[in-house]
Amino acid sequence: AFEAKTLLAQAGMVTLDPGFANTAACQSRITYIDGEAGILRYRGYPIQELAERSSFLEVAYLLIHGELPGPGELKDFSEQLRANAALPAEMRTMIDALPRDGHPMVLLGTAVNTMAAFYADTADPGDSAQVDRATMLLLAQLPTVAARIYRHTIGEEPLEPDHSLGYVEDFLRMTFGGRNGSAELDRLYARAMDLLLILHADHEQNCSTATVRVVGSSQAGLYGSVASGINALFGPLHGGANQAVLEMLEEIRDAGGDVDTYLSKVKDKESGTRLMGFGHRVYKNFDPRSKEIKELAAEILDRQDQPDELFELALRLEGRALADSYFTDRKLYPNVDFYSGVIYREMGFPTSMFTVLFALGRLPGWIAHWREQRLDPAARIARPRQLYVGPTQRSYAG
Ligand code: ACO
Repeated sequence: AFEAKTLLAQAGMVTLDPGFANTAACQSRITYIDGEAGILRYRGYPIQELAERSSFLEVAYLLIHGELPGPGELKDFSEQLRANAALPAEMRTMIDALPRDGHPMVLLGTAVNTMAAFYADTADPGDSAQVDRATMLLLAQLPTVAARIYRHTIGEEPLEPDHSLGYVEDFLRMTFGGRNGSAELDRLYARAMDLLLILHADHEQNCSTATVRVVGSSQAGLYGSVASGINALFGPLHGGANQAVLEMLEEIRDAGGDVDTYLSKVKDKESGTRLMGFGHRVYKNFDPRSKEIKELAAEILDRQDQPDELFELALRLEGRALADSYFTDRKLYPNVDFYSGVIYREMGFPTSMFTVLFALGRLPGWIAHWREQRLDPAARIARPRQLYVGPTQRSYAG
């Protein structure tokens, strides 16, 4: 209390707000969320309409430039990205030299951070051409980097971009080498991947985007700020959750598939176990993205002759949790990550790549926020206050 009073006296009112749950750090025009009503809109467009009618590149353009592209603009944007998808030779060598057993997210953050060394950095706030170029290179090359990292970690030769293919199609080909065999399945997976990227493209001041803004607020460059966002996304409470969901489902399956025993463990606070893929800081009734993803999972997995064991388990777990007052009292519902992992797994991605796929989707959001902040005359360096609760004064007795 003494220290709090001292701070109040020195600096006016200081609020203690762990996790910034009630603190707005900026004004933004990018994404609107109404957590109570389960509404998510990018630049005013409802996520459901974008999911149904647009493509990931259209959404990326919308988030970054504020307007949907016209047909000519979309074509130019897409061609520019495709034409710049290949990595410089030194960057390829660097990725190939990274430890093969490192987590792909660690390798991804490293590769993106070094882009500031391979290309001119964006530290000059007045140079909008440089910012536009960094924006384009990040969007163009992140899929190439991600696919190369994947193949590196499994000991396969990398595949170079094929500019004649679409953004998502080529990413899947560079990752798996077009191994699905059927053009129909390739198309379904590309559409599923595109939809998942759209649903992940922005989510206002989430932990990784807030990180990008905090780092960018010191006028650090775009590559370094995005690399910091990648590291924030890696945490299990944020982007790592889709990997954690799959691991949780596998654990339940291996222990005999009893969801109730698992839920009892979750409800016992002492166990330190959370129901991964459940709960959200903002959505307190439902996550509008989870419905789209659940439907997509059903469409993809219905094609199989056998029901998918982990998808069935996830459906059962969701049903039991939603019938339990522990979860409903705390307004805990499935979030975007609860079903995305089962889709990625069906497409052939190992769990360690799930968060990388999230990063590919979130990239336009990170870029849009970094740019918005750069242009905001009211933006200041991020520098929160604290309430000091340690010893007030001690003397060094020697
Ligand atoms: N399982 C069990 N209990 C939970 C869960 C969960 N997944 N989430 C929250 N709770 C409980 C808390 O223990 C707390 O209970 P209490 O009031 O009895 O102490 C209450 O619900 C409120 O929880 P908070 O931790 O205060 O909620 P917060 O808003 O800080 O956390 C978060 C949100 C991190 C998403 C949390 O719900 C969680 O850990 N979920 C699991 C991880 C996850 O799925 N993350 C992905 C988030 S979405 C994304 O990043 C795209």
